[in-house]
Amino acid sequence: MRKFLSTAVITALMAGTVSFAQAQEKQSVEVLHWWTSGGEAAALNVLKKDLEKQNIGWVDMPVAGGSGVQAMTVLRARVTAGDPPTAVQLLGFDIIDWAKQGVLGNLDSVADKEGWGKVVPDALQKFAKYDGHWIAAPVDIHSTNWMWINKAALDKAGGKVPQTWDELIALLDNFKKQGIVPIAHGGQPWQDSTVFEAVALSFGDDFYKKAFIDLDPATLGSDTMKQVFDRMTTLRTYVDPNFSGRDWNLASAMVIDGKAGVQFMGDWAKGEFLKAGKVPGKDFVCARYPGTQGAVTFNSDMFAMFNVAKDKVPAQMAMASAIMSPAFQVAFNTVKGAAPARMDVSDEKFDACGKKAIADVKAANADGRMLGSMAHGYADPAAVKNAIYDVVTRQFNGELTSEQAVKELVTAVAAAQ
Ligand code: GAL
Repeated sequence: MRKFLSTAVITALMAGTVSFAQAQEKQSVEVLHWWTSGGEAAALNVLKKDLEKQNIGWVDMPVAGGSGVQAMTVLRARVTAGDPPTAVQLLGFDIIDWAKQGVLGNLDSVADKEGWGKVVPDALQKFAKYDGHWIAAPVDIHSTNWMWINKAALDKAGGKVPQTWDELIALLDNFKKQGIVPIAHGGQPWQDSTVFEAVALSFGDDFYKKAFIDLDPATLGSDTMKQVFDRMTTLRTYVDPNFSGRDWNLASAMVIDGKAGVQFMGDWAKGEFLKAGKVPGKDFVCARYPGTQGAVTFNSDMFAMFNVAKDKVPAQMAMASAIMSPAFQVAFNTVKGAAPARMDVSDEKFDACGKKAIADVKAANADGRMLGSMAHGYADPAAVKNAIYDVVTRQFNGELTSEQAVKELVTAVAAAQ
């Protein structure tokens, strides 16, 4: 229904300062997201500005908490109350779960017109489509098997990026001798599991797949899995005493400030380095976690559009279209730290780490080495993910031995399915 125009707008129209289209009731989107750190907020701003240019208003619904743990609780409450936000940042299996509940809108009209199917990698389409229909617009491709190293500290240690577990331990020992915290870590379950999955991946794609994607009990309970936990115990000895509960971006800040040597974290960490004015190759080094080169444990942030009143749908479609525009994917991801979600975007405007991220995604996609991140909801539904989180965190905090953790992993995963 067309709204009446206010006197101020009519005056502006008569004076010719606004067009009739602008004078019409401004469309807006309410966006639920968890991008509240410095780098994340800077990237989100790129999206807000893009929509502003199209005269689409932005109603911000931020829910702080890395990886969206708290945001998902708020979302559930809103949907249960019958008042979903128009657009929601979602990951992996959560998207499919909401689609199954029939609460998501259909983006086919935009997606088909713009040919999303030809440019979005299949690994992502599995989560952006449900029952053959587009239900979400992917904004980026992050991956978790990265290390972020302070360049000055690395140089003091001889400048060589570790390629193996033994080289990594030698570097961590060197950081200790330099008097800095070797590993910047935030003790929150999702962060513990982000490190855990990189360690697991270093035992091979097959092991990772069988354990976290196939949920094969023999692999979950294997001696190799025990070795993964043993390595977590070792890594724990390089973490400072105040790690518990620390937010991921504060851990990044430790590496940025030279108080710590390395952080094992997805490439959203790069957003923090850039926000602090740091330059890849000069101030910090990005490299794949030792032994995981060539593989990419991905998590792609997607915006799903919830079923809302009909008059809000055009703004949803405009937002979906804006997200998928090649120019926007470049503008956003050069700030966010991720690779674009489309495979046809040039890497020209990306820094060295961004170029590597794009090349890695391309190669992994061609080689069948794009593996969904367990820690970020791309390997398993939330119940299974949370069951794994629980065991990983208890073991990392010394509540379980590696042997106990392996056994608990098998039973917890079975119970969660
Ligand atoms: C991830 C998400 C990233 C980043 C990170 C930390 O799950 O994909 O975009 O926001 O959490 O909050």
